[in-house]
Amino acid sequence: MAIERIAVIGAGQMGSGIAQVAAQAGLSVVLGDAAPELARKAVEKLGGTLGKLVEKGKIAVADRDAILGRIKPAASLEDCAGADLAIEAIVENQGVKTELFRKLDALLPPHAILASNTSSISITALAAATKRPGQFIGMHFMNPPPVMQLIEIIRGLQTSDETYATVVALAKKLGKTTVTSKDAPGFIVNRILIPLLNEACFALQEGLASPEDIDTGVKLGLNHPMGPLTLADFIGLDTCLYIAEVLHRELGDDKYRPAPLLRQYVAAGWYGRKSGRGFYRYDA
Ligand code: CAA
Ligand code: NAD
Repeated sequence: MAIERIAVIGAGQMGSGIAQVAAQAGLSVVLGDAAPELARKAVEKLGGTLGKLVEKGKIAVADRDAILGRIKPAASLEDCAGADLAIEAIVENQGVKTELFRKLDALLPPHAILASNTSSISITALAAATKRPGQFIGMHFMNPPPVMQLIEIIRGLQTSDETYATVVALAKKLGKTTVTSKDAPGFIVNRILIPLLNEACFALQEGLASPEDIDTGVKLGLNHPMGPLTLADFIGLDTCLYIAEVLHRELGDDKYRPAPLLRQYVAAGWYGRKSGRGFYRYDA
């Protein structure tokens, strides 16, 4: 099946980046959010992002206009009704995601595929809340989606071969490389990344070094593009905590227990870059 119209639900950092990638590949996109105002603002912001690409000479003005013309903010979830594929990129919470997928299942045409951009939650469990578990799959983009090359594909227990092939072909059309993971907590990337970020939180909590030295140590010592505390702030400390909780609960091993400092920052509303404060301050 050829995917031409997609709905992206969740207009945060991932959803808006996914919408950009899809529109740049020629797909028509409806971008929705629980707060429709956020979807409208996200499309406005994408205008600025694409404007910068024009300034850098990476795309022409006509391309910018055509790409923007393919992205529509949704006034309500009903605006997503015509999609061939819905990609969910809302908060990392199984109950909230399940509720959304029930609504999308009732709304979308029978041929449509449902995909989750979840970082850690069971695709099999999310799929089981719908009447189309064969047409359900994990499509895990990396942050920021327009820049990062990878999409991790996760097959749930009931994902059909046809759904898998359609989504892998779509990822290729988006210009991405795929890896396929079994449906296990955190899949490949976050099974490995989140313990690293969590360990950096423990190191800071224990007073091993300053945030700057922890980050510089990893950045220069391991040649990572960002230090772990900077990266955690970039991902969102709330999201890092939710993923760590899934790993801890589902794998049942205390080595995955979230650092108390991470819990404390999230309790304080210090979510990282998106809230203006995390391990560093971004309010300026
Ligand atoms: N669309 C298209 N291109 C864009 C863009 C956009 N929205 N935003 C940036 N770019 C381009 C820029 O134009 C620039 O291109 P040139 O070098 O050709 O000029 C390039 O991307 C790099 O951008 P910047 O110069 O602004 O930024 P940078 O060089 O400091 O790199 C970064 C930023 C790519 C984020 C880099 O710091 C990095 O790779 N960090 C690590 C990111 C990472 O690990 N992501 C994965 C997180 S884990 C995850 O996502 C999974 C999960 O579930 C939590
Ligand atoms: P975010 O906090 O930036 O955005 C989430 C958006 O979802 C918000 O705009 C919020 O209003 C909206 N939302 C919340 N509940 C909703 C609902 N019931 N219906 C519609 N919209 C709703 O989060 P994000 O960083 O974009 O993460 C989104 C998803 O992508 C999460 O599952 C996360 O684990 C995953 N993810 C995140 C990253 C990352 O680095 N941040 C990377 C890969 C995957």
